[in-house]
Amino acid sequence: MTPASINSAAAPYVLGHSAEELQRLTLQARLLEPITRRLLLTAGVAPGMRVLDVGSGMGDETFLAAELVGPAGHVVGADRAPFAITQATERAKAESVANVSFVEGDPSKMPFDRLFDAVVGRYVLMYQRDPAATLHALAIRLKTGGLIVFHELDWGGARSWPPAPTYDQCCRWVIDALRCGGAEPYMGTKLYSAFVQAALPPPVMHLEAPIGGPADPSGRVTDLLQTIFPRSLVATLEQFDVAQASEIDADNLPGRMYEEITKLRSVIVGRSEVGAWSRKS
Ligand SMILES: C[S@@+](CC[C@H](N)C(=O)[O-])C[C@H]1O[C@@H](n2cnc3c(N)ncnc32)[C@H](O)[C@@H]1O
Repeated sequence: MTPASINSAAAPYVLGHSAEELQRLTLQARLLEPITRRLLLTAGVAPGMRVLDVGSGMGDETFLAAELVGPAGHVVGADRAPFAITQATERAKAESVANVSFVEGDPSKMPFDRLFDAVVGRYVLMYQRDPAATLHALAIRLKTGGLIVFHELDWGGARSWPPAPTYDQCCRWVIDALRCGGAEPYMGTKLYSAFVQAALPPPVMHLEAPIGGPADPSGRVTDLLQTIFPRSLVATLEQFDVAQASEIDADNLPGRMYEEITKLRSVIVGRSEVGAWSRKS
């Protein structure tokens, strides 16, 4: 059975919400922060706006948007996972962030008392069975002229040169596990058609990807290797008979990849970080 043939066995959210996975998201958020910041600023998230963050997880994008909208604005983070909402709410309290609130549920299906100036989301449409339908429902929560901005990944461009077999294998495992779990590993490139199918104006798009060799002074290559393989995917790979835990050796995977790229002097290119935005007409 190939991963493509078992997509119909989709679980709602393949990565789960273990404390370890939420911590991985926070480390990953450090890598993503400058990219999402550029995206939100370029798209037009500005002081005073009322923003909805869809699938807020630990709240990293919510807090970033809250900084951009300032004290006169407000960001509502919505996530269907109660544990994520508890964690994000505690972070807001601990960091004394007053212009955010978190609500449990699917914001494409929930009522809100007011329309939003902007709807944002990161790494969330890739987990929807019908991303265009989700976007269409979310657009109803937006004012006319309101901004809709999504940051999604795309594994199409991840590679290494000279080829680092463990890194390349790791990327294939992630792609297979996402597909087995019913997620879309190429959502970034599919954003355009999702916006258009949702009857939104065709989006402006932008793509960035981390790239570097083993001695990358920015530290991004080591962050990338640490976060690239969510441990929760091991169970999915085993369940669908793609790879066994002993072969994946998740505990040592980042170290093994780092040693290999050091030995081979390989440059690695991470997955693409794709942004798309438009305004409701
Ligand atoms: C990969 S995490 C990303 C979290 C956060 N946006 C970030 O970038 O750090 C995806 C989150 O979206 C949530 N999610 C997925 N589909 C959702 C939906 N339809 N409604 C609400 N939350 C959803 C999941 O529960 C999970 O917490």
